[in-house]
Amino acid sequence: MTNNEPNFTLCSDSARTHVFVEPDALNYIGKWVSSLRTPPIVVIISDTTVAKLYGQRALASLATHCPKSELITVPPGDQSKSISHLDGIYAKLGKMRVPRDGMLLALGGGVVTDLTGFAAATWMRGIDYANCPTTLEADVDASLGGKTGINHASGKNMIGAFHHPRFVAVDPTCLKTLPARDVAAGLAESIKHALISDAAFLDWHEQNAPAIRAIDPKIMGELVTRNLRIKANVVEQDEKESGIRACLNFGHTIGHAVEKLSNYALRHGEAVAVGMVAAAHISMSKGMLDAPAVQRIQTMLQSFALPIKAENVNPAEVIEITLGDKKVKAGKRQWVLLDGIGQYTITDDVSDDVIEQAVNTVCAN
Ligand SMILES: NC(=O)c1ccc[n+]([C@@H]2O[C@H](COP(=O)([O-])OP(=O)(O)OC[C@H]3O[C@@H](n4cnc5c(N)ncnc54)[C@H](O)[C@@H]3O)[C@@H](O)[C@H]2O)c1
Ligand SMILES: [Zn+2]
Repeated sequence: MTNNEPNFTLCSDSARTHVFVEPDALNYIGKWVSSLRTPPIVVIISDTTVAKLYGQRALASLATHCPKSELITVPPGDQSKSISHLDGIYAKLGKMRVPRDGMLLALGGGVVTDLTGFAAATWMRGIDYANCPTTLEADVDASLGGKTGINHASGKNMIGAFHHPRFVAVDPTCLKTLPARDVAAGLAESIKHALISDAAFLDWHEQNAPAIRAIDPKIMGELVTRNLRIKANVVEQDEKESGIRACLNFGHTIGHAVEKLSNYALRHGEAVAVGMVAAAHISMSKGMLDAPAVQRIQTMLQSFALPIKAENVNPAEVIEITLGDKKVKAGKRQWVLLDGIGQYTITDDVSDDVIEQAVNTVCAN
């Protein structure tokens, strides 16, 4: 593969997102921007941690291909997905006089890609942007699919827009500097993708576990590419989540409750791991998954240092959040369950008893 060729392109009604996954991708972003067109200015948005590690490389790559590039940083952490940080970004874009044909480039984890995407969706009614994810969570999930947004006092991701990046450029070598806990959290989303759609990919995780744990760049490149293809395939069929895109929420219903009730002490991926175990138990109760499969999922999560139980989270509160918020679709909570490994089903036919039992299995306080 040459450096100019995308691995693949997500094509839907409103998206044409090229996906590049390769070691040293950061060195080629200038080339990839200019292969689309030459924007008068490209503004990189990053967090201070990532900017320190990779900001200069990204700027240097842009400098050889684009007339002007700038870097804006926000503090690391989910707090930066806020109206006040967005306002700070707008102020800087205004000062830089970023025009309609200017471009934003997110360099960082899901916080930065969500924030940058939303800034791009709203600045001058929408300008182009691209994602250079640097966490595994963003590599395999947040960087592709067009969901952008910020948090609000009324809830996480409450304000947002669908706005697709022009390209996603993943440099798997960036994972070398990512704390092990964040790598594991991203792996939960990878296992999620395998569980809902690709049994062979689940086998692949087992076969390549040592190389994955060692963050071998070649294996991580393959892992990211396979994940993004799965996500692209779902998004191409249901861009705005009116149907099957909901399958990507496997493990997220109970996972979100657990994440919140841990006061965000658990990483999102860790909470999703717990949520997937609960969803696997629910699937087993409905006769769709056998006990060895549930055990296999648990063993795999643990082998990647992911939790299968949430400590210090009150099961009654998880149940309250999960069952209290039933008015999701036509009055009933939709559950994404496994119909065997590699296949999902979406149903609202799950009794409260079964949910309570599953939550009690995965929570201990
Ligand atoms: N839009 C979507 O489809 C989507 C999907 C999943 C998650 N998300 C969002 O993503 C966010 C979580 O993203 P995240 O898990 O990537 O967290 P994050 O962006 O907060 O990054 C985690 C931490 O890792 C640091 N970091 C990033 N890359 C690094 C690197 N290569 N080396 C060293 N440190 C590095 C960051 O500075 C930060 O402190 C949430 O806000 C979530 O809502 C969005
Ligand atoms: Zn998730």
